[in-house]
Amino acid sequence: MKSSTHEWLCDLVITPRCRRLGRMQGRAALITGASSGIGADLAWQLSRQGVSVTLADVDMAGAGATAARIRAAGGQAIAVRCDVADSSQHLQAFQTHMQRWGRLDYALLNAGEWSE
Ligand SMILES: NC(=O)c1ccc[n+]([C@@H]2O[C@H](COP(=O)([O-])OP(=O)(O)OC[C@H]3O[C@@H](n4cnc5c(N)ncnc54)[C@H](O)[C@@H]3O)[C@@H](O)[C@H]2O)c1
Repeated sequence: MKSSTHEWLCDLVITPRCRRLGRMQGRAALITGASSGIGADLAWQLSRQGVSVTLADVDMAGAGATAARIRAAGGQAIAVRCDVADSSQHLQAFQTHMQRWGRLDYALLNAGEWSE
């Protein structure tokens, strides 16, 4: 569920001015840790601004489900498996992103563990 922290972070990335002017339309973002939590919310919010998103995560089931939800709503999204703790997987995730979208405008390196 979306928390006030998520909303605050989304507003930090997608400023009200960006939303108003539609400045993000046609751009592409790579987001790590995007199967759930803040990363998934960011992917969803960016896709609503016309940004094509790559969801990179160790949890492919979750990333695939989030990408499918974005596509079902008319957005553009792919999921790619990437364990950010394993540097040998970074290049593959980046190459998959570039092959699909042809550009990288935003890299949101959000993957990690969080417990309150
Ligand atoms: N939620 C908060 O209030 C808060 C506060 C400060 C910092 N953070 C940081 O923000 C980030 C996201 O937080 P969240 O609350 O959305 O967490 P979350 O646990 O809900 O989501 C983390 C995501 O990262 C993925 N992930 C974990 N390890 C990974 C790895 N090695 N490679 C790729 N993906 C991996 C998980 O599968 C999951 O999709 C974390 O780095 C967290 O430490 C969160």
